[in-house]
Amino acid sequence: MANTKTVTFKDNQTGKTWDYPVMSGSVGPDVVDIRKFYADTDMFTYDPGFTSTGSCESKITFIDGDKGVLLHRGYPIEDLAENCNFEEVAYLMLNGELPNAAEKEKFERDITYHTMLHEQVHSFYSGFRRDAHPMAVMCGVAGALSAFYHDSLDITNPEHRKISSFRLIAKMPTIAAWAYKYSLGQPFIYPRNDLGYAENFLYMMFATPCEDYEVNPILAKAMDRILILHADHEQNASTSTVRLAGSSGANPFACIAAGIASLWGPAHGGANEAVLNMLKEIGTKDRIPEFVKRAKDKNDSFRLMGFGHRVYKNYDPRARIMARTCSEVLKELNIKDNPLLDIAMELERIALEDEYFIEKKLYPNVDFYSGIIFQAMGIPVTMFTALFALARTTGWIAQWNEMIEDPQQKIGRPRQLYTGQPKREFVGLKKRK
Ligand code: SDX
Repeated sequence: MANTKTVTFKDNQTGKTWDYPVMSGSVGPDVVDIRKFYADTDMFTYDPGFTSTGSCESKITFIDGDKGVLLHRGYPIEDLAENCNFEEVAYLMLNGELPNAAEKEKFERDITYHTMLHEQVHSFYSGFRRDAHPMAVMCGVAGALSAFYHDSLDITNPEHRKISSFRLIAKMPTIAAWAYKYSLGQPFIYPRNDLGYAENFLYMMFATPCEDYEVNPILAKAMDRILILHADHEQNASTSTVRLAGSSGANPFACIAAGIASLWGPAHGGANEAVLNMLKEIGTKDRIPEFVKRAKDKNDSFRLMGFGHRVYKNYDPRARIMARTCSEVLKELNIKDNPLLDIAMELERIALEDEYFIEKKLYPNVDFYSGIIFQAMGIPVTMFTALFALARTTGWIAQWNEMIEDPQQKIGRPRQLYTGQPKREFVGLKKRK
């Protein structure tokens, strides 16, 4: 929202000044509207990593990093995680309001009836090695879906956007579960229309055609809550990737494939897999100081995975809920002593008391506990980021729709500070030394 506030930019070399409007949101920091900055000053702003740059206006998610607050359409994540199922939160993200009973039932049915994959998608899997990383499979299969749905690729058509959104949200659990089944050499398990979103995913992951399989309701509830915690998170790297890809008019399946690729990185969604590998490398509590020392050493590229965040300079509220969920799952599975959990809790205790982590405001993030929960559920480490992608597809799709519907939307095209060679004479091959 524009207001009367302005800021003045002054070029101290020439004394010239320019005023720029300040825009205020409903909560959170104001922004300076610098859309005319280059035309006025013939200069670019410079902000690698976008630490101080707002890329868009959004109504979906708000994070107060200093207070450790996360809101989806104004509702605190704690309230949503405690009182909703994933489908309700997905509806909220897409539509702006929580569904009433009738809306919830219809939305759950709309999603349920799109969970199957086209039979020809099976052959995409057989093109991968059995040991292909599930994120490679998800990237490939999600992008390939655009080859199956020519009836819904016109992004200017709201009905096309709606059906594509439902298809992507509905099919991602099937794509992920089938990537796991393919790695095992087991047959794909078809989704069931009598199961909820999270329960259906666990069913497709662990059922076999040989016997009846019933998902543990406590684990289904825990998975449902974990999916809620991972659903959306403002303009993080993968969401920004989806928005940038979508700004060119690319179809939603291609945009989501781009988001999956970005999420895969260990600094982002790949951190949950990296946390578990780190805990295994630490191995015992008495080696924790050695790794904390390495994490503080500027000359060592090692970082404590699952710690730190670009926005949270307080405890990630999702990490608190994940820690509680971790205890619930281990109790339900009667896992009394989990060495990795013991190491994780001791690592958290030490880090939170360490001057370096306190001064840099490094707290556990959403990825710190998720791996321990997933491993306890029997989910392999390579599937951890695939679960993150499965949940985040809803946030990506909500943000993609918001971008397409934004009248201010235009193709994203950042500029740069060029420090390469100025124009120079060409040197023919014979003259090159
Ligand atoms: C996710 O953006 C999102 O919202 C992401 C996410 C989402 O839901 O979409 O929340 C999901 O990606 C969570 C983050 C998962 N990644 C990790 O756990 C990997 C480990 N964390 C770091 O790589 C790092 O904290 C980042 C990438 C998460 C944030 O990096 P920033 O914002 O670029 O901060 P930085 O790297 O500049 O760190 C600030 C300082 C640095 O020291 P100085 O250069 O100032 O001396 O803190 C240090 C860093 O060296 N630091 C760490 C550290 N994280 C930051 N030192 C040791 N261990 C760490 N984990």
